[in-house]
Amino acid sequence: MANTAPEPSEGLPPAAAPKPGGIAARAMAGKAPAYLATLNDAQREAVEAIDGPVLVLAGAGTGKTKVLTTRLAHIINTGRARPSNILAVTFTNKAAREMKTRIGELVGHVVEGMTWLGTFHSIGVKILRRHAELVDLRSNFTILDTDDQIRLLKQVLKAADIDDKRWPARQLASVIDNWKNRGLRPDDVPDADGFVFADGMAVRLYSAYRERLKTLNAVDFGDLLLECLTLFRDHPDILGEYQNRFAYMLVDEYQDTNVAQYLWLRLLAQGRGNIACVGDDDQSIYGWRGAEVDNILRFETDFPGARVVRLEENYRSTQNILAAASALISHNEGRLGKTLHAASTEDGEPVHVRGVWDAEDEARLVTDEIESLHGKGHLLSEIAVQVRASFQMREFEDRFIMLGLPYRVIGGPRFYERQEIRDAIAYLQVVANPDHDVKFQRIINVPKRSIGERSVAIIVDAARTRGLPLYRAAAELVETDEIRGQARASLA
Ligand SMILES: Nc1ncnc2c1ncn2[C@@H]1O[C@H](COP(=O)(O)OP(=O)(O)OP(=O)(O)O)[C@@H](O)[C@H]1O
Ligand SMILES: [Mg+2]
Repeated sequence: MANTAPEPSEGLPPAAAPKPGGIAARAMAGKAPAYLATLNDAQREAVEAIDGPVLVLAGAGTGKTKVLTTRLAHIINTGRARPSNILAVTFTNKAAREMKTRIGELVGHVVEGMTWLGTFHSIGVKILRRHAELVDLRSNFTILDTDDQIRLLKQVLKAADIDDKRWPARQLASVIDNWKNRGLRPDDVPDADGFVFADGMAVRLYSAYRERLKTLNAVDFGDLLLECLTLFRDHPDILGEYQNRFAYMLVDEYQDTNVAQYLWLRLLAQGRGNIACVGDDDQSIYGWRGAEVDNILRFETDFPGARVVRLEENYRSTQNILAAASALISHNEGRLGKTLHAASTEDGEPVHVRGVWDAEDEARLVTDEIESLHGKGHLLSEIAVQVRASFQMREFEDRFIMLGLPYRVIGGPRFYERQEIRDAIAYLQVVANPDHDVKFQRIINVPKRSIGERSVAIIVDAARTRGLPLYRAAAELVETDEIRGQARASLA
């Protein structure tokens, strides 16, 4: 068993007496730390209610993230827990970095000890690597990206003799992801759900895929949480260790959690019960990824005695913008309901709504407006165009280029999601670990070097019969006549 023993000082109750003269001691001596003074009353209530479950329910720009970071700083500052005993979860790496910086500003270098601040995925990976053997993996397991996953599923479909033109691998991937997001292993999938793909074969394919993953010592994104859930379910002692370790838990953007993440949080919080979630039921953006606004609506039932704090003062927008937004979202169903009012006393510019025929028309209208503002002396760098989804940027870009209006796209595909970057990383992974079969298959013909599907099939077969990783099988085949011509030359 690897790394299952608790680290000596972890999981213990925090030290009773803070260092004399330290920040914690000063805080405890009754002198309120400066950071509390920057909060409004409701925010301060949410920060100071340290023990027990807390749900901060608030609209956009009301200081939810500020409350969470300040709360974290407050826990550390008052000596309630060591940084390494606090679990803080965000949705994106960017949010995690930002949170770290903001806490750093409040408590200084202590933040470096925050080993459990990160995304659900990064924390899931960390836990899994420590206990990989217990879920049939080795600690150096590979994490597949979407491309790898599709490639593997194609092989699974082929092995089951299913035509992937009629039943595309991509569709199977989304069926499986959906189950994983709901915390379902093959055995847990309700019978009726199996008919969503390939005439009732879905669950069997899911099992086959799972087995392939284990053989390859690999996991996909969904597994990072699902395997953790399996680990916790089958090994209560390990669950207990983490429950004890995480004296305080904090979750940002709680409205975006899916069922698997929710179950994961709930299991961990059953230890100390000190969980604080902040979220906005009106801002759920991951519905397509299985996020359940229900999680937020259910918090009070799941965590009895939870304190619910509402923040209604918005520090980001003018009253006119808030009124327009509120008029729109008041039509949504399944909300807990809240009213926002602007912290600023000025109403600001009125919001204009214009109807247009199509995207091109819209781009024309917007660029006319930009040119007119520009003509009046406004800087282009002060003007932003926001879109709901990146495919909507096209028409704007076309028009900006046509008119010669300089522009900058913010967002777009992220660095690590770009094809060439993922290929380059796959090469490095194969160099570091030649047994990385999945990555080896990704790059064997990238850039194109005449190693076709037939040659790859020969290598895969040879690897399987000889019980070798693909890389070694290929090295052996080069010495024989089994692969010919350009493919053999390229392989060599
Ligand atoms: N009490 C306050 N006094 C002054 N400024 C504040 C206060 N609370 C929050 N702000 C400012 O309001 C802005 C929004 O804060 P924050 O990002 O924490 O809000 P949020 O609710 O997390 O927003 P989102 O809904 O986008 O996640 C920040 O610039 C923050 O510094
Ligand atoms: Mg926020």
